Amino acid sequence: MTGQLPYSEKVMDHFTNPRNVGEIVDASGVGIVGNAICGDVMKMYLKIENNIIVDIKFKTFGCGAAVATSSMVTEMVKGKSIAEALKITNQAVAEALGGLPIIKMHCSVLAEEALRSALKDYYKKQGLPVPLEDKGHE
Ligand code: FES
Repeated sequence: MTGQLPYSEKVMDHFTNPRNVGEIVDASGVGIVGNAICGDVMKMYLKIENNIIVDIKFKTFGCGAAVATSSMVTEMVKGKSIAEALKITNQAVAEALGGLPIIKMHCSVLAEEALRSALKDYYKKQGLPVPLEDKGHE
């Protein structure tokens, strides 16, 4: 915990110093997702070469946990294969951040969905079938 805040030091670190913020002009895939309840929006850009995510950037218009989870997910998938990226869950992102308060878990769902949305866009742009099921997150 960090002082009186219910956030781990890792969450605070990624919130105050987010990694991979920005956009990729010639992205291989772009995903944009939002949460209808809180109104937060996350946009993720992927650069994919030979099935490897060689670059990833994001823009998040949202709460601190949304910024921290976006930042963490970009760190987790950069340099990884698409297959490895597809295995990343919102729980894994939250765990990598040292945990999130229960009421902030939906923010990590947004990060997972943004990544999956960008991967879906990549498949569509390649003219390939999309091997991704909607997981039915709330
Ligand atoms: Fe909306 Fe965190 S409160 S994503």
